[in-house]
Amino acid sequence: MKNLVIRKATLKDVVPLALLARVTFREAFGKYFRNEQDLKMYFNESFSIQSLKAKLNDGNNIFWIAFVDNLPVGYAKMIKNSPSKFIGHKSVSELQRIYVLHDFLNMKIGQSLQNTVFKEVKRLGVKYLWLSVYVGNPKAIRFYQRNKYKHFGNQVLNFAQQDFEFQVLFKSF
Ligand SMILES: CC(C)(COP(=O)(O)OP(=O)(O)OC[C@H]1O[C@@H](n2cnc3c(N)ncnc32)[C@H](O)[C@@H]1OP(=O)(O)O)[C@@H](O)C(=O)NCCC(=O)NCCS
Repeated sequence: MKNLVIRKATLKDVVPLALLARVTFREAFGKYFRNEQDLKMYFNESFSIQSLKAKLNDGNNIFWIAFVDNLPVGYAKMIKNSPSKFIGHKSVSELQRIYVLHDFLNMKIGQSLQNTVFKEVKRLGVKYLWLSVYVGNPKAIRFYQRNKYKHFGNQVLNFAQQDFEFQVLFKSF
């Protein structure tokens, strides 16, 4: 891997972060949405500069960006305090996003992002990290299995006016 750098994102990174969020989401999941307008509305609500600025300003969130030769190619977002209905515990964080641009998949960038998140979880003394993964996303499910997450249950979440079934996975530290 050429010159991979992963660092926490700040407000100054909002533009590359917003672009990464839109592009990686569409690359990974665009094909599952029936209505292009609903998807664009979801992007405008969740990945606009304004929305991402608010999320970056929220001290409960941590974002990381991965750069290859200074090009932003992936990102991760963790919510520090995010209790899950499946895990009745106080010390619970959520890995809400981990996305790598299509051109940079299978180069262990996702793994490096994941390792960075694990390091932060340990530093913060968090006991559980959980996430939701779409049941139709076997590549990500394999990735999480390699990282020793355990399947806890399933839940349905609504994105852009469509319901999707997700596996809820967690890992204890
Ligand atoms: C899930 C995700 C973050 C993983 O990141 P990644 O950088 O592709 O992960 P890795 O490079 O560690 O592993 C990916 C694959 O490359 C393979 N690989 C990595 N290095 C390799 C090597 N040197 N030789 C052979 N294979 C290799 C891994 O075995 C793995 O194979 P698999 O996908 O068939 O199981 C990434 O696939 C992604 O962004 N997907 C789209 C968005 C998404 O689904 N996010 C998760 C939402 S819940």
